[in-house]
Amino acid sequence: MSGKYLVTGGAGYVGSVVAQHLLEAGHQVVVLDNLTTGFREGVPAGATFIEGDIRDAAKWLDASFDGVLHFAAFSQVGESVVKPEKYWDNNVVGSMALLGAMREAGVRRLVFSSTAATYGEPEQVPIVETAPTKPTNPYGASKLAVDHMITGEAAAHGLAAVSLRYFNVAGAYGAYGERHDPESHLVPLVLQVAQGKRDAISVFGEDYPTPDGTCVRDYIHVADLAEAHLLAVAAATPGEHLICNLGNGEGFSVRQVIETVRQVTGHPIPEVLAPRRGGDPATLVASAATAREKLGWNPSRADLAGIVADAWEFTQNISKEQ
Ligand SMILES: NC(=O)c1ccc[n+]([C@@H]2O[C@H](COP(=O)([O-])OP(=O)(O)OC[C@H]3O[C@@H](n4cnc5c(N)ncnc54)[C@H](O)[C@@H]3O)[C@@H](O)[C@H]2O)c1
Repeated sequence: MSGKYLVTGGAGYVGSVVAQHLLEAGHQVVVLDNLTTGFREGVPAGATFIEGDIRDAAKWLDASFDGVLHFAAFSQVGESVVKPEKYWDNNVVGSMALLGAMREAGVRRLVFSSTAATYGEPEQVPIVETAPTKPTNPYGASKLAVDHMITGEAAAHGLAAVSLRYFNVAGAYGAYGERHDPESHLVPLVLQVAQGKRDAISVFGEDYPTPDGTCVRDYIHVADLAEAHLLAVAAATPGEHLICNLGNGEGFSVRQVIETVRQVTGHPIPEVLAPRRGGDPATLVASAATAREKLGWNPSRADLAGIVADAWEFTQNISKEQ
């Protein structure tokens, strides 16, 4: 059944891809984004665009909406360490205002972008949703605070809510892809080397207890992620807050990612070995069993070369336009 959804942060990377999937599924989409890290041209054609802040969501939310997909946030881990107040304000105060506006307007369905950073250093991998949540930076802490807020909102006020804890999102979906500034994610950074925009890629430590000594991460294609959001909208149940990890359940090392970019782009990609970064766990891999069981999610684009190829195509197209 088609519905009307508010997509906060729909001018950003993940929000734009999900907004496009909602439109393709026949839904009506209103994007609310203040363009702090997003791009006007990232808003899919067919969506209504409101340039505004989630803290003012009450101005636009009314009972005509069937639900909210909430992506708007700051998400730079390093920045959150030096400017924690920026993260508490935007991610926590902003989400509280949004929840209040939803309550006021009687909009009772929410899908929230949570993160693997809520877990911190894992005691066991693959990581399950019942694992201890001990974030190691203010970004992860701010997202965990919102998860707690949502749990209370569901229990006390009947919100139907799903938090999706993404691991490393990568890839692109047609005209919608990743272009953070500054960029901190591995795949787009290595692609910048392939494009000649960066001389070399830094490898932070090669003495981790992993097969090749470099950190291992779980990469998920942004289109698989988008499909999980549509399933989550449908699965959300009044009074319940479901939390699901989203990953492929398979890890790739930093060196495997770099080698895959070499193969896909045909570029040599020079590497520079750098010291370990504080707070980088050796291995972060998701158990996506809950998403498979509760949402019926079945990711189909786990192949790393395919993920990199889609990101590479997007990166080249964007450069041509600039
Ligand atoms: N990209 C990843 O690998 C990843 C991993 C885990 C979780 N997440 C979460 O997914 C969400 C989307 O991430 P992304 O990579 O697409 O980030 P992004 O920066 O590309 O998109 C975020 C969007 O939100 C907007 N925004 C920020 N604050 C706002 C506010 N107060 N009001 C209105 N709009 C606002 C920005 O302008 C931007 O368009 C974030 O909540 C992030 O924490 C992302």
